[in-house]
Amino acid sequence: MPLELVQGDIARQPVDAVVTAANKQLMGGGGVDGVIHRAAGPRLLQAIRAIGGTPTGTAVITPAFDLERQGVKYVIHAVGPVWRGGQSGEAELLAGAYRESLRLATQHGCRSVAFPAISTGVYGYPVERAAPVILATIQEFLRGQSALSVRLVLHGADTLQVFERALARL
Ligand code: APR
Repeated sequence: MPLELVQGDIARQPVDAVVTAANKQLMGGGGVDGVIHRAAGPRLLQAIRAIGGTPTGTAVITPAFDLERQGVKYVIHAVGPVWRGGQSGEAELLAGAYRESLRLATQHGCRSVAFPAISTGVYGYPVERAAPVILATIQEFLRGQSALSVRLVLHGADTLQVFERALARL
């Protein structure tokens, strides 16, 4: 199945690459990023600090370090926008973070990638507004890519439902 929605923990997915919701300074954070860093170990922070930073709406890729024990090869650090009311290019920046991550995963030969709902936590992007942008971006990318399967890992049952409804409406 090329696009799958599941409820669960992003750090426990049997995929080639997992995407984390980073900040543009690549400083390591809480939320999803904290969970991924704890699972991947301290070398992950060293690797992103060496990269230094990446603009909002883009992503960078590193090895998965300790996550390699569970078969994950790469961590992709994607920077979504802070929600400022919807008139500040948030949708395009959110789409960019997903597109760039998908491109990096493909470029590195990944067959499967797992994403969280970037920007919908600390960054305050309303889930109802983020879901259609995220789903449309992934579907558009997958139309040109038969080899990649994408898993969206949603944290709660409510978030999963919002995404399921948005997918049905696409
Ligand atoms: N698995 C999957 N999803 C999770 C998990 C988990 N283990 N834990 C939290 N989530 C969900 C949150 O409920 C939210 O819907 O991931 C979504 C993204 O939340 P955040 O991690 O807060 O990401 P974001 O809103 O993009 O904020 C990024 O937070 O940690 C800092 O350094 C990071 O400054 C950056 C900012």
